[in-house]
Amino acid sequence: MTTVLVAVAGKHGATAEIAGEIADVLRHELPAADVEVRDAADVGDLSRFDAVLVGSAIYMGRWLPAARHLVEHHRAPLAALPVWMFSSGPLGDPPRPLDDLAEVTSLGATITARGHQVFAGRLDPADLRWTERLAVRAVHSPTGDFRDHDAVRAWAVEVAAGIRAPVTGTFAPVPPLSTGESSIP
Ligand SMILES: Cc1cc2nc3c(=O)[nH]c(=O)nc-3n(C[C@H](O)[C@H](O)[C@H](O)COP(=O)(O)O)c2cc1C
Repeated sequence: MTTVLVAVAGKHGATAEIAGEIADVLRHELPAADVEVRDAADVGDLSRFDAVLVGSAIYMGRWLPAARHLVEHHRAPLAALPVWMFSSGPLGDPPRPLDDLAEVTSLGATITARGHQVFAGRLDPADLRWTERLAVRAVHSPTGDFRDHDAVRAWAVEVAAGIRAPVTGTFAPVPPLSTGESSIP
């Protein structure tokens, strides 16, 4: 059975809901798969997973520590698996800011992630701590729920196709190591 992990880090539920929506689509598209959604901070051994999705809310232009640490601490097993990354952050219509997220791109490169998708997020002032409220007021951030559920579901369908797809390309076995005898005359 294919086992898929959707690991997520967020503060106020918007990204966790996106992760849940992605998992629902994966379950629908891959009926024989076991799809687990976990808090990124609670992920341990990855050996039983066949594919991994890691997502985080963006705060101050960065992924949250739990998602960053997940990738950093499990670099080798993740590099050996198909991995997709997603972020939830930009607010408004059209959504802003469009951070370059260079750090997330670099993280993805270390594990040869198959893709990174940024989704618009949700900001409800009632959820925020006072420090967060001051920060969003300072940058005149729009408030509301700007998540595009169609975009989330469409991306999840693409990921499901990637998980389903057999590995393509030809596998060329490495020739046995030379015993020292040179074939060069
Ligand atoms: C204090 C604060 C800082 C934020 N900084 C960014 C940011 O730098 N870039 C961005 O795209 N979104 C930013 N956001 C928006 C959140 O990432 C967005 O609301 C996200 O969907 C929240 O997800 P969560 O509910 O899972 O925490 C910020 C929100 C707050 C409250």
